[in-house]
Amino acid sequence: MSELNECDTAAQYSGKATMEKITSLAKRRGFVFQSSEIYGGQSGAWDYGPLGIELKNRIAGAWWKEMTQLHDDIAGLDAAILMHPRTWEASGHVENFTDPLVDCKKCKSRFRADMIPEENLASKKCPDCGGELTDTRKFNLMFKSHIGPAEDTASVIYLRPETAQGIYVNYKNIIQSNRMKIPFGIAQIGKAFRNEIVTKNFIFRTCEFEQMEMQYFVKPGTDEKWFDEWRRRRWAYYEKLGVKMDHLRWHQHGADELAHYAKDAYDIQYLFPMGWRELEGVHNRSDYDLKRHSEFSGKDMQYIDQDNNNERYIPFIIETSAGLTRNLLMILCDAYDEEQVAQEKNSGSSEGTASGTAGSADDWRTVLRFHPALAPVTAAVLPLMKKDGLAELAQDIRRELKEDYAVDYDQSGAIGRRYRRQDEAGTPFCITIDYQSKEDGTVTLRFRDSMEQIRIPRAELTSRLKQEIKAYKRIK
Ligand code: GAP
Repeated sequence: MSELNECDTAAQYSGKATMEKITSLAKRRGFVFQSSEIYGGQSGAWDYGPLGIELKNRIAGAWWKEMTQLHDDIAGLDAAILMHPRTWEASGHVENFTDPLVDCKKCKSRFRADMIPEENLASKKCPDCGGELTDTRKFNLMFKSHIGPAEDTASVIYLRPETAQGIYVNYKNIIQSNRMKIPFGIAQIGKAFRNEIVTKNFIFRTCEFEQMEMQYFVKPGTDEKWFDEWRRRRWAYYEKLGVKMDHLRWHQHGADELAHYAKDAYDIQYLFPMGWRELEGVHNRSDYDLKRHSEFSGKDMQYIDQDNNNERYIPFIIETSAGLTRNLLMILCDAYDEEQVAQEKNSGSSEGTASGTAGSADDWRTVLRFHPALAPVTAAVLPLMKKDGLAELAQDIRRELKEDYAVDYDQSGAIGRRYRRQDEAGTPFCITIDYQSKEDGTVTLRFRDSMEQIRIPRAELTSRLKQEIKAYKRIK
């Protein structure tokens, strides 16, 4: 499906998020900032702030655990971004990794030819100013530079446009070092760079981004079975993360969409506020990559099956390729909610206990309903008052919890406002310390989603949080 058609599906989105709200909250709360903002910003690049880096690390951690810890047959790798330039000739990127580009001769705007209406392309009319468009030409998306002091053809180097190739060139190393037997996989998370013609929708499509890719090496003839299996596993993964499953769907690539290496390909699409868009690709890459690397490097890339009379073959590769930064945008949109709520217990006062009487006025809140395992801050410790030793007690509890969880501490303002601040950051648990805590060693545990509050002994906090994170079920 072309990007143009995908844009038409924005009307199907009925959630509370808009890209404007997400971008503004991301900046306000320190998830994502524009790159080099003080110089007017660098398009296609973004900086991840204190909450953003925590969220990104947790999304990467969840993927890494899923792919390596939970799979004995998958090994990890962190290959270099800079690779021998022959890599990109072998992979087909030098020849094929292009987008169709048109320029407006009048306003100098640049467009991807497949992202502007066909009538504009046919009439060569700029969709922005009506000026004349150039002919469509191929534009290679790889960033090219030079390594070393001489800027000649011998020194050309590319920033990798995908992490996958670092895996293919190491496949034999990993078989040897880890005694891997087919079928097996190699997983990698890392930066990738593409000179995208159009970067819009915040961090959805950027020039610098991160990928989480896994390449699974299989015997030819078993590739279709493994392709189906990896599609099933990747779908189940998002379900486990608590993503709204009615916002996910499959899209199979038609013949006109298939990449040069692909025998078959499906995208997992997510319903973003701007419509259905690709989140992750599952590709049957056939034996294209290893055959090409064999050809270009002169090295034998065959697998020798010692359990089967030393049978030799070039494995097929099933790839699961997800954008880490795009996953972060998805998780932000998926978690975003606004709701009208009754004023919470004790929320406006500084009475002595956290479980005082409920107020009457209604209130609005913005809440990020992150899965607690992904939330940048797991728990916030809030002393009801600063005085009478409550702050000291709260700091002590914070210190204890910090060993196991990312914990925030906030003692300023009315407790209701502090809860709202934590809701907006997606903190799943608030722990409120009051005078009763001093007397009987109990604290109030407040749940972000239901806003329910319970009293539990301080000594049970660590294990209770662990239990709650494991048993978490999204209620909205
Ligand atoms: N190795 C295969 C590959 O790179 P892809 O469909 O080009 O396949 C895989 O990219 C994933 O990487 C996409 O589904 C998307 O999540 C992410 N991605 C690709 N280009 C991106 C960009 N310019 N900005 C952010 N994420 C991007």
